[in-house]
Amino acid sequence: MKKPAGGMKKPRGTFGATTLVTGASSGLGRAISVELALRRCRLVLTGRQHSALEQTRKECLEAGAPQVDLIDADLTSPQERGVLWGFAAECGVEAVVNNAGAGVAGLWADQSWESDQHLLALLIEAPLDLAKRWVTSCRPLGRGALLNIVSTGAYQPGPYTAIYYAAKAFLGSWSLALSWELAPTGLVVTAAYPGALKSSFATRSGRAESPLSRSPAFAAQRIVRAWEAGHPHVVPGAREKLAVLASRLFPETWSAQVVGNLQASLLQASVLNRR
Ligand SMILES: NC(=O)c1ccc[n+]([C@@H]2O[C@H](COP(=O)([O-])OP(=O)(O)OC[C@H]3O[C@@H](n4cnc5c(N)ncnc54)[C@H](OP(=O)(O)O)[C@@H]3O)[C@@H](O)[C@H]2O)c1
Repeated sequence: MKKPAGGMKKPRGTFGATTLVTGASSGLGRAISVELALRRCRLVLTGRQHSALEQTRKECLEAGAPQVDLIDADLTSPQERGVLWGFAAECGVEAVVNNAGAGVAGLWADQSWESDQHLLALLIEAPLDLAKRWVTSCRPLGRGALLNIVSTGAYQPGPYTAIYYAAKAFLGSWSLALSWELAPTGLVVTAAYPGALKSSFATRSGRAESPLSRSPAFAAQRIVRAWEAGHPHVVPGAREKLAVLASRLFPETWSAQVVGNLQASLLQASVLNRR
């Protein structure tokens, strides 16, 4: 059998093509949408908060997007993902940004099975489902681009937010493998690993924001540039690259200790802030 030439051919992205962005109603998703709008991409934006999506649409049109369509969808629902993809396909989507995400802070033992299932559906099932639909429609065309928003947390165990870190490790590993497999087809797959961001993420997860958080615009600029260039992997920021390097040099038990202490302090700060 002929050996497949994975990871070797120069990739062809589809910039300027219609792009679906999940989690476009805030934070990094909004900032990536604006970056794509600056490149004159036609956009399909999705989230659950319609008025916040309207705000992103306004910013994208001002930045130069020729057209911005909105569709509300809860990505944890397989039915809503089906309707979302039907709409995206009608719009001619050839590029997808799997960005939507959330975390739950606290002891895993205290969290319900329903909460675990909800997180796994959002962080693993939804990106894989959308990627499967994307690859099925784009492979025959020989062009298409997929961007998966992972996290530097993918490189460490994450006490007090264990499912989130573990799910991001899964997402990163799968994304890099997919990128290699699809390289000969011309389809681009990029995994982006941002560090802490100034967004609603931390408070929604139930903890305080890290004092080292970056603006979503900082991360979005670097991520979109790397995606455009067809890189399979991007860590936006020197500090974040150092964190990744450290977690590769030191044993995972050490990383668990560092992350556990950091997350515990953010949880404590959040409890104190509420008093
Ligand atoms: N913030 C950080 O420190 C950080 C660090 C590394 C990586 N990341 C990753 O970056 C990505 C974006 O996070 P962010 O910081 O921009 O957080 P954010 O401001 O809280 O945005 C999260 C987005 O995900 C959407 N979302 C959440 N649950 C959803 C659901 N069930 N169905 C559909 N959409 C849903 C939200 O839309 P609605 O509100 O409209 O539902 C929102 O647009 C995530 O994948 C996150 O894991 C974040």
